[in-house]
Amino acid sequence: MTRPIFTEAGLRAAIERELPGVRADLERLVRIPGIAFDGFDHSHVERSAEAVAELLRGCSLDVRIVRSGGQPAVIGRRAAPPGAPTVLLYAHHDVQPVGDISLWESDPFEPVERDGRLYGRGAADDKAGIMAHVAALRAFGDDLPVGVVLFIEGEEEYGSDSLERLLREHRDEIASDVIVIADSGNWDIGVPALTTSLRGIVNCFVEIRTLEHAIHSGMFGGAVPDALTALTRLLATLHDEHGDVAVDGLISRGGATVDYPEDRLRHESGLVDGVSFIGTGRLTDRIWTKPALAILAIDAPPTTGAPNALVPAAKAKLSVRLAPGDNPKQAYAALRSHLEKHAPWGTTAVVTIEHDGDPCVIDASGPYFDAARGAFEAAWDGVKPVDIGVGGSIPFIATFQEMFPAAAILVTGVEDPYARAHGPNESLHLGEFARVCLAETLLLAKVAEAAAADR
Ligand code: BES
Ligand code: MN
Repeated sequence: MTRPIFTEAGLRAAIERELPGVRADLERLVRIPGIAFDGFDHSHVERSAEAVAELLRGCSLDVRIVRSGGQPAVIGRRAAPPGAPTVLLYAHHDVQPVGDISLWESDPFEPVERDGRLYGRGAADDKAGIMAHVAALRAFGDDLPVGVVLFIEGEEEYGSDSLERLLREHRDEIASDVIVIADSGNWDIGVPALTTSLRGIVNCFVEIRTLEHAIHSGMFGGAVPDALTALTRLLATLHDEHGDVAVDGLISRGGATVDYPEDRLRHESGLVDGVSFIGTGRLTDRIWTKPALAILAIDAPPTTGAPNALVPAAKAKLSVRLAPGDNPKQAYAALRSHLEKHAPWGTTAVVTIEHDGDPCVIDASGPYFDAARGAFEAAWDGVKPVDIGVGGSIPFIATFQEMFPAAAILVTGVEDPYARAHGPNESLHLGEFARVCLAETLLLAKVAEAAAADR
């Protein structure tokens, strides 16, 4: 059987042609507030799965909405032409809650363009990931050179609790040679990247009680400890004087191939003038391959209306990012034992886990990675992609690695340093989005070529 030969120019023209429709469908998805967190109206997640299913049916895929006790995921398949490889395309259709609405400059669920960026919750993370997959499928029309399995999950932002079950239940349907995870980002505007490591995560709570009830702070203070002071002293032991994490037993590594210029990191993170960075070593190691620990929240009386009373109990939520190669169970045990050991003044630190997730390291070598690098370089007009780590977590990559050890896992995505994913005023750089769509299209063509060359 002869198959159509794809030229780069032809595929560029196809993406050019498809982009307006892709943009319109992206806006349609952004209007659906599908949030998988507890306490939100999950009927929107259902609608969002339906909308994704409709888009995939429009690409002539066999589509099913599946679930395993959690939110709905969408699986869409088209069989490979004889002898061609199969590529799994992952993205997620749920989004983060919007947080403090007063900080948004426009309605999070009404997409608007400003200065070349499309604003809206999920515009980047990760509805643009879904639409990059759809763009590539539309560019090929009926002549798709590879088999595809689209796997669009519905609870990534809420920890993907049922994803592992879903993957195992549908193992045979989703088995593939290449897995593209479009939920990461690029190195800078104009510079593409392949993500080759991600950190793991352990989120937990620690609670300290010093008193059976609140008491007058003047009458008893000085001899009787309050829980908030005890808790903050405990929390202060978690970093050393340089700001490195001081918990024994966490793994730390290095080896990034790029440096993050200090000014750039300051600017991109919005670090306030005069505030220094924390930790030691290269900045890329600090944010990608060393552990990080942040106090996310404290339950304590609000300052407004706080009486002169000793606080009897206080609780904090901690989040630890784990170095690639570390183990979440061991890391939690290390953290817990640190907290129990350092609780001051005879108090007991009660530690409970919220959730954890595996880190991963990807050996980005071989013909499919070469195909991806070639596709990126072409889509960015000759700018070679860099290998980056990511400080955030996509825990199920470890599950894919275990289930499909022979598959090449390409972690890509649309986020740029200004996307503000998870924050107010999330946005997508439309110029970069066009390149991502083209890159994925070229990638599918090159994956087919690489497999043919191998035969
Ligand atoms: N897309 C992110 C992961 C990511 C973060 C990629 C930063 C590139 C840069 C993903 O949606 C995410 O936020 N993951 C959670 C994982 C958690 C819910 C287990 C995270 O990192 O907090
Ligand atoms: Mn995401």
